[in-house]
Amino acid sequence: MAIEIEQPNSVGLSKVAVSETHGEDSPYFAGWKAYDEDPYDESSNPSGVIQMGLAENQVSFDLLEEYLEKNPATASWGQKVSGFRENALFQDYHGLQSFRKAMASFMEQIRGGRAKFNPDRVVLTAGATAANELLTFILADPGDALLVPTPYYPGFDRDLRWRTGVKIVPVHCDSSNNFQITPQALEAAYRSAEAMGVKVRGVLITNPSNPLGATIRRPVLEEILDFASRKNIHLVSDEIYSGSVFTADEFVSVAEILEARNYKDSERVHIVYSLSKDLGLPGFRVGTIYSYSDQVVTTARRMSSFTLISSQTQQLLAAMLSDESFTGNYIRTNRERLRKRYEMIVDGLRKAGIECLKGNGGLFCWMNLSPLLEKPTRECELKLWKSILNEVKLNISPGSSCHCWEAGWFRVCFANMSEKTLEVALRRIRDFMERR
Ligand SMILES: Cc1ncc(COP(=O)(O)O)c(C=O)c1O
Repeated sequence: MAIEIEQPNSVGLSKVAVSETHGEDSPYFAGWKAYDEDPYDESSNPSGVIQMGLAENQVSFDLLEEYLEKNPATASWGQKVSGFRENALFQDYHGLQSFRKAMASFMEQIRGGRAKFNPDRVVLTAGATAANELLTFILADPGDALLVPTPYYPGFDRDLRWRTGVKIVPVHCDSSNNFQITPQALEAAYRSAEAMGVKVRGVLITNPSNPLGATIRRPVLEEILDFASRKNIHLVSDEIYSGSVFTADEFVSVAEILEARNYKDSERVHIVYSLSKDLGLPGFRVGTIYSYSDQVVTTARRMSSFTLISSQTQQLLAAMLSDESFTGNYIRTNRERLRKRYEMIVDGLRKAGIECLKGNGGLFCWMNLSPLLEKPTRECELKLWKSILNEVKLNISPGSSCHCWEAGWFRVCFANMSEKTLEVALRRIRDFMERR
């Protein structure tokens, strides 16, 4: 949570330290604060704020806990004191070979074996946050730009811009075609950057998208790849929710398309992944960059010195992810549970008279409250967001915090709470709609 700085730069800090590009002055983070001050609890604070602004996955913790109970040695030192010493001393930025291998095969398994990942191309980072920033440092210079389709994950404002000095040029997508990315929108964004005298170094997509909760269809992905090749720029594909797509077949990774194209122009393509969402482990800080460029792999590894994963965490997860019967069951069950949650929320909202974009993955849905706006403006959207936060006591994320141009859309997370709490949230929304 942000600490308020009352006297900006009174002690003479650097430009980066006092820059506003951290993006924390957004309703996205203000909503988290409102939740922290008055968190809902079924028995001790039943009228508190329910947190629906946090893309956390808590629906499959029991499976992870069961694995650890059955395999206690995994979570300890392999029952040898020497294991402790190895862990205590290991700090090689290549990471544990066993862990890189396990990550590569987990990424293959999520994609139903339709794409291959070479462990030697896996760079380990402390989460996707670090991976995205690190890639931005490598691909662009301060003042250069990345094209990012909107609506996008609000954290990108911090991760891609703050310390790197790189700009984000939005690629505007809207509901007229279900927020799909088009070559025209990409071209328009590219030209607007050129008109500002800004050099575009790449496109960064999220597949499936946060906040839409929908995958990018194969032909659209092909068009994005073609656009990047034509312009000679990089393509970063953040596939952090790839294992949370409800039906494996509905997700197409950029890795599959590259394989089908015999890796043509692949050295400008980079995939970001992390275990924060699919395994629900954001606190473990485990992310990866998978790059098809040798140069990027080598540089990213060097740079990962600033953001390594603890060797203890690597050892634990190497054992867990190498157990394919566990991972197979986990991926399948987690997908089913997420789909059930999604159906529960979308159905509940529909009964309250609210429509959502058709989703097929992720930990959230993209809800259309535009019929409730007095006028289709950002101001009216934020007014509605405030009344939902203060009266209905739900923290949801307004589309404008995700840089959505079209007013009235909201991201609603459903996997960071129990089914019972989700029912309370849906009841509150229904009552609110009836009152209106
Ligand atoms: C699209 C996207 N990328 C990156 C992140 C950051 O993930 P991590 O916890 O692995 O840093 C998130 C987290 O919400 C996200 O939604």
